[in-house]
Amino acid sequence: MAGTKIAWFCTSCGFESPKWVGKCPSCNEWNTFADEVVKKGNSPSVPMQAFKEKPKPRALTEIVTGHTQRIDTNDEELNRVLGGGLVYGSIVLVGGQPGIGKSTLMLQLAMKANGKVLYVSGEESEEQIKMRADRLGQAVDECYIYTETACSTLIEEAKKLQPVLIIVDSIQTLYNPMIDSPPGSISQVRECTAELQRFAKESNIPIVVIGHITKEGGLAGPKVLEHIVDVVLQFEGDQNYTYRILRTLKNRFGSTDELGIYAMEAGGLREVSNPSELLLSQHTETLSGSVIAASLEGMRPLMIETQALVTPSVYGTPQRSATGFDLRRLAMLLAVLEKRCGLPIGHNDVFLNIAGGIRVTDPAIDLAIFTALISSLNNIGIGRNICFAAEIGLTGEIRGVSRIEQRIQEADRLGFEVIYISRSNLKNVKTENLHIDVRPLSRVEDLLYEVFG
Ligand code: TYD
Ligand code: MG
Repeated sequence: MAGTKIAWFCTSCGFESPKWVGKCPSCNEWNTFADEVVKKGNSPSVPMQAFKEKPKPRALTEIVTGHTQRIDTNDEELNRVLGGGLVYGSIVLVGGQPGIGKSTLMLQLAMKANGKVLYVSGEESEEQIKMRADRLGQAVDECYIYTETACSTLIEEAKKLQPVLIIVDSIQTLYNPMIDSPPGSISQVRECTAELQRFAKESNIPIVVIGHITKEGGLAGPKVLEHIVDVVLQFEGDQNYTYRILRTLKNRFGSTDELGIYAMEAGGLREVSNPSELLLSQHTETLSGSVIAASLEGMRPLMIETQALVTPSVYGTPQRSATGFDLRRLAMLLAVLEKRCGLPIGHNDVFLNIAGGIRVTDPAIDLAIFTALISSLNNIGIGRNICFAAEIGLTGEIRGVSRIEQRIQEADRLGFEVIYISRSNLKNVKTENLHIDVRPLSRVEDLLYEVFG
């Protein structure tokens, strides 16, 4: 066919190659290349047609900024994650595991919005969406469900309807008939996103797009997708638990440190504004191996229960298992425990769990985990009124962590009586107005002495 061109794309990262290759030179994945027909001439490579007049260079000081107008989503967690609400004309990409609740979150957003919303779904039928909406609550007049997958048709319809918000579930179901490859393929995803972006910029209507993720956990489709959109949010959590976390991976209009916490319940997703209290209310008695960490998720302090179980190993090779925590980090903590504290942990199985099914990357929970390991090994319980916030270094030093004051305030607010922190953090702490006893530690040996006597 005249004017057609075939190219090979890496299905993992979207790398384009003129011929098939076994190993992607960009992401080093094997056997990921698939061919796609890309028709020449209709791929508009200049997406910034939104400029009404020709731009010219201007000094930074000359540019006046208006107040960025934002749309209140009526969802405090979502507003926070977006940096204060949806920006007009922006594109937000929401990714997450199948079944985690992306469609639920979006339908709730559509039903709560002030004004007309166009909810485009290529994944579910109208009846399915209606059934879900019934579970979520009162049906609203201004939420329009549209099961269309042709990108240009949905844009035509949006022009007629003039909604305040468009939701697309999901980008992988959209297609542009000008491109020969099937929906969900690299070139379709890229083209449809670019088309949506042009429409968003022209019409000033924000568009929220759901995207699938690959089995490795990255967003499916080409990397360029993440570059085109303004905000990338990730919805994560463990399906067997109720908590869901909405994280910002990219935000052109705000900080990426914010995060939203939801609980999945029978009536849909509920905003959790006080996560610490929820995670801690499980039990009150002192148990060995259970220690509380004053952690920080994004910008929010969060008290987390860490649980360790250390038992003599029955097999030759002791087992190490960690849920919600990096296994290599656990191995490091075990090595420090053995070398610096002289505790024989090498012949024990070690199981570690972060309660609530959340994944923690904050290094400040090191000290709590370390204490939980010793507590379980020696069968000595740690009081529920004590919490910990420090990182542990290879030499056994107890290191300072960021935003220590915020952590201490949260612990104080929740009625903890003692918090152990690093001595190097102590100078940043004003203890005058606090009821909590702030105790500094310098080395892991001090911990043994102070906490376990
Ligand atoms: P869904 O939004 O379909 O996930 P995704 O779009 O990310 O694939 O969510 C599906 C799960 O949510 C399903 O397993 C059931 C659960 N759920 C509830 O627990 N309560 C509810 O009110 C709803 C609507 C769903
Ligand atoms: Mg879905």
